[in-house]
Amino acid sequence: MSKSIDELVDVDIEGTVAREIFVDEEIFEKELEHVFGRAWLFVGHVDLVPKPNDYFASRMGTDPVILTRDHKGEIHVLLNTCTHRGMKLCRSDQGNTRTFTCPYHGWSFSTDGRFVGRPGGLVGVPGLEKNYHDELDKNEWGLIPVPQVEVYKGTVWATWAEDAPTLEEYLGDMRLYLDYALDYRDGRPDGAEVFGGIQKWRVKANWKMIPENFIGDLYHDVSHRSVDAVGIGPSGKGRRDTFANRMTLCFPQHGHGVIGQLPFYEEYEGVSGAWGDNPDVKAYYEQVHQDRVERFGDSRRVSMSVGTIFPSMSFHGRQPRTIAWVHPISATETEIWRIYLVDKDAPEPVKDEARRYYLRYSGPAGMTESDDMENWAYATRASEGWRAKQLKFNYQMGLGHAKAVPDLEHAVENGEYNEENARAFYRRWAQFMNASSWKDIPMPVDEAEQ
Ligand code: FES
Ligand SMILES: [Fe+2]
Repeated sequence: MSKSIDELVDVDIEGTVAREIFVDEEIFEKELEHVFGRAWLFVGHVDLVPKPNDYFASRMGTDPVILTRDHKGEIHVLLNTCTHRGMKLCRSDQGNTRTFTCPYHGWSFSTDGRFVGRPGGLVGVPGLEKNYHDELDKNEWGLIPVPQVEVYKGTVWATWAEDAPTLEEYLGDMRLYLDYALDYRDGRPDGAEVFGGIQKWRVKANWKMIPENFIGDLYHDVSHRSVDAVGIGPSGKGRRDTFANRMTLCFPQHGHGVIGQLPFYEEYEGVSGAWGDNPDVKAYYEQVHQDRVERFGDSRRVSMSVGTIFPSMSFHGRQPRTIAWVHPISATETEIWRIYLVDKDAPEPVKDEARRYYLRYSGPAGMTESDDMENWAYATRASEGWRAKQLKFNYQMGLGHAKAVPDLEHAVENGEYNEENARAFYRRWAQFMNASSWKDIPMPVDEAEQ
């Protein structure tokens, strides 16, 4: 890596990004510290650890972490490596335990913190008296906790940076779009539950291509022509039901973006959509739509189809309704995890209809996601060669045509088809890569403060 980050990313003047940032291992190593070591990362959902002492093995960048729930119901995130000599402590994907015992030499650590002061504390050391002569300071050798963890409407977020802004500041007004996925469909808060487990799979692509696609790439509709033609959508038309007045809008100072609607104050027709040929399911969504109209009245609301929260969490709010987050493996390989959401109190036929639709749309065998994976993998592979690596990707569509969105803080829109959101993503990426800590990473400034 001989060029500076600013030479590699020029999204404001030229509208290009060097292919090197998608294939170069040295840049990848730097991303782990500068991006994954500082940003708020999505690590899971509370539904994955519903009971005390439940755990879920997750990742932050390439670091394995364990999401735990203690006996008081609090959520913690711990680095999943034994402090003695590094063994991966928890090797199951999910489960319930009061202690993690290391398979190498048998040190054990408390899940919920009872008797040892804090979750992850070192409880037992074989031979503590005889071999260590009682001289090992157990308080010093507990599992490493992730310093900042926040739960937002069931979603769990963590950051290694003690000086990171709060999650609320980090999300900004993008939170409204996230709410659309996490609230009950009729507008009551916090109603989405995870159902049907988790899908995990790997794709031979650079990790950034995935959130970049989900942040607002409407232009690639051509890739999905077959699923549109077959009509895999819930009502048998296209790959999903209609979505009125969609556009791409983004929060350039945060790096987040979304395909959605501008804030509105009365319900658009088609927001709840047709949702299904099954008359019971259709009646349910019509009722939900009616309840939503009454609940919100003329207050501000948004709806959306898909968006990305910088750097690695993407979510679909509507059809399907799901969260995907990416774990970098190397510059050219990524693991994708996806969970599926539905209203907790939806009747079984509604959940069942959603489940079948989600599976034919998303995941490693989902027909729409398969199209996308093909693009990400071959774009990575075709950029690896010594000659191709010298080229740039083009992000020039709509450059210089963004307009402020009056009803959202720090948001811009650029119509329906444009590459504004991808430019926002790479501009933010460059800011993280150039910064030595959070003090160098700009956060939005209110006009009144300028
Ligand atoms: S590496 Fe875990 S007890 Fe030795
Ligand atoms: Fe796609």
